[in-house]
Amino acid sequence: MRPADDAPFKDWIATSAVRAKPPLTDFALGRGDDLASVRWFVFGAQDELLSHPALRPLGLAERNRLAAARLVQFLDDMTLTEHRIVNTAAQAIAQNRLKDFLPEPMALDALKLYTDEGYHAFFTAHASRAVRQCFSLAARDEPSLKIAALEAWVAEAPPAQRDLAWFMVGFIGETMITKAIVDAMRGTAHSGLQRLLLAHLEDEWVHARYFAQAFALVWKGLDASARAHWGGQLPRVMAAFHARDPRLHGEWLEQAGLDAAARERVLDRLCGGEGLTTRTRRLCANTLQILERCGAFKHKAVRERFVEAGLIDPDHRR
Ligand SMILES: [Fe+2]
Ligand SMILES: [Fe+2]
Repeated sequence: MRPADDAPFKDWIATSAVRAKPPLTDFALGRGDDLASVRWFVFGAQDELLSHPALRPLGLAERNRLAAARLVQFLDDMTLTEHRIVNTAAQAIAQNRLKDFLPEPMALDALKLYTDEGYHAFFTAHASRAVRQCFSLAARDEPSLKIAALEAWVAEAPPAQRDLAWFMVGFIGETMITKAIVDAMRGTAHSGLQRLLLAHLEDEWVHARYFAQAFALVWKGLDASARAHWGGQLPRVMAAFHARDPRLHGEWLEQAGLDAAARERVLDRLCGGEGLTTRTRRLCANTLQILERCGAFKHKAVRERFVEAGLIDPDHRR
């Protein structure tokens, strides 16, 4: 059992955003007129979309609008992931359905995580609405590829194994989200959005530590065949978390004025297999480290699945 002072949520009452940062619910972006003329999105070389050569002819207004559409999608996706995916995993733990692996104090902590995610979903949805209004972007309600892929993966598990499947989904999602938020912060020059993302990030550092500890306990409790099974499936969960929707990206690019050939070139880089693997590997660096620490890659079957998925190198040390 973990020592009490190593409990990730021990300062939750004093430090969590929902307790310590209620003004995040007053989120406002400023006047729409200002945004049309100010470059408040940062276009770094690491930004695969905005730094693509095919986008060079775009002016500030088109770039701002494209970045805003992407940001709205990121925020909407985040909102949905928080309450529909992560909190379903949190419920399984909070209701003690993983008691074979996790001690009771961790079930109580799962309720803190659940509360955090509810608040994150609320302020993130609020921010998305503000950005949409500033740029007169239509609300979208198409199904998310990511949510569908994750739910389909859990549904494939026999009913008695679903809680464990949800736990695995929570583990992957919560140990990679910090990097995704840092990426979004890097591309955003608006101070209100920066504050909001930073508040979220600070909570997610706690969540990532919690899930790292929980995973170590679950992994320890699994026998060899269960380790081979669950470990071998994790690359698919990681890929599902990083799925990109080519249709949606194509629409943004079309609205920005790119012709079909230019759109194709951008989509190839962003949504093609190699681009997605590189991105998944980079964003899952923390998750991969935790798996390494737990000894997951010592299992041949697990290691082979990760090598096949391009998430670790073929000569990965055992
Ligand atoms: Fe969150
Ligand atoms: Fe979280």
